[in-house]
Amino acid sequence: MKICCIGAGYVGGPTMAMIASKCPEVTVTVVDINAERIAGWNSGTLPIFEPGLEEMVALQRGKNLFFSTDVNDTIRDSDVIFISVNTPTKTYGVGAGRAADLRFVESCARQIAEVSDSDKIVVEKSTIPVRTAQSIKRILDASSHNGAKFQVLSNPEFLAEGTAMEDLEAPDRVLIGGETTEEGLAAVGKLVDLYAHWVPRERILTTNLWSSELSKLTANAFLAQRISSINSISALCEATGADVDEVAHAIGQDSRIGPKFLKSSVGFGGSCFQKDILNLVYLCEHFGLPEVANYWQQVVEMNDYQKRRFTQRMLDAMFNTVSHKRIAILGYAFKKDTNDTRESAAIYVCRDLLEEQAHLAIYDLKVPASEIYETLGVFEDDDRVEVCDNAYSAADGAHAVAILTEWDAFKNLDYTRIYNSMPKPAFLFDGRNLLDIPALQEIGFEASGIGK
Ligand code: UDX
Ligand code: ADP
Repeated sequence: MKICCIGAGYVGGPTMAMIASKCPEVTVTVVDINAERIAGWNSGTLPIFEPGLEEMVALQRGKNLFFSTDVNDTIRDSDVIFISVNTPTKTYGVGAGRAADLRFVESCARQIAEVSDSDKIVVEKSTIPVRTAQSIKRILDASSHNGAKFQVLSNPEFLAEGTAMEDLEAPDRVLIGGETTEEGLAAVGKLVDLYAHWVPRERILTTNLWSSELSKLTANAFLAQRISSINSISALCEATGADVDEVAHAIGQDSRIGPKFLKSSVGFGGSCFQKDILNLVYLCEHFGLPEVANYWQQVVEMNDYQKRRFTQRMLDAMFNTVSHKRIAILGYAFKKDTNDTRESAAIYVCRDLLEEQAHLAIYDLKVPASEIYETLGVFEDDDRVEVCDNAYSAADGAHAVAILTEWDAFKNLDYTRIYNSMPKPAFLFDGRNLLDIPALQEIGFEASGIGK
């Protein structure tokens, strides 16, 4: 079997590395129109950081795993084509700010139809609205001119960044949706056999196309909802003196609730949660279900509130002004163990602080300086934003330290040294509940966490 994956991003790269590693007889080629990205995948420094990925790519690359910009030839040569391109929220026209922008997916479908001269199985890997498979199929069938036939499958990816390789190696489940025709079932069977190389059969679920597409949106909406729910309680904890971590632990012991995804924070980020919920909201409105749409919209609104509330708390503590004060920002990625900044809460907090005329000294373990400047919309010579190469230089002379990503390294910093390098009173705002607040207060910090 020959596999082509269109899109060498956070989903396509790791997923294909795992398939290549587990299925030595299968040839996997990942293609992308972004030549710089492909060059990165073929070099010693991969374009994305994910624990364990570099080692796996080093073992497979050149054997049965290839990265190329030659999209057409790779499509033509493959039996199975994964579409793993980006599906951002639309920024223009009807549905702007909510609906998914499917132009990259559509252009892939047209390209596949254009160049294919044999039958193909086309697999949607990107998160997309329900019924996209139908659109892909229509484009494929209408534009095909070489007699090629197409089967479209939905195979959403549930990996979380930072733990992608573990999630791919031992997934809770693999979901494959397809048409219930004879050809559809045969295509589903082929993909099942591929995953069965390493995933126990009972964990490979097969459904119809729409159930598979909707399950992905629903899973992300439920996960994000848990975070917004505990974050809403964090505001109440701050008002009443309860400790949100204690509340989360107590409710998580109930086996019906469970302990995961109850960590209160400055807000969820990442490329999926907000996008998928907005997508769900848009779908509900489209199908005439405004009450359902409003219900899910609240999850996003609570998250926006949480991000704004964090900055407001900083201002309240710091005598209502941060104007021209140096603020150290520790962590910029949307979560630990990734260099991804998409929808990172740090971007929003930093923008709000810049509005308040703060001077920011930002340090992240993996995010490049150029990306920090770009996402904040400032030039590299802007003296309001300094990107530092370690936490101590960021904190040196700062009125406050704000922890915005839960990098493990921030647990083990010498906070006495940091305290001594700051003007007093020295503030510390832990947006990830990573640190022991009483211990920081013992050092002398005016310290607070979320929901504490
Ligand atoms: C998510 C889903 O988990 C994954 O299944 C899907 O395929 C893609 O979207 P990802 O966005 O990579 O994965 O990371 P995730 O671990 O879900 O974290 C998302 C955001 O929520 C991060 O900003 C994280 O810091 C935050 N979070 C997570 C919390 O604030 N509290 C929690 O308890 C868990
Ligand atoms: P994800 O997190 O879903 O993997 P990314 O943005 O990291 O999203 O990756 C998507 C990749 O898809 C990008 O590298 C982009 O250049 C690539 N891409 C988008 N459209 C096409 C296309 N028509 N052909 C090839 N690659 C594409």
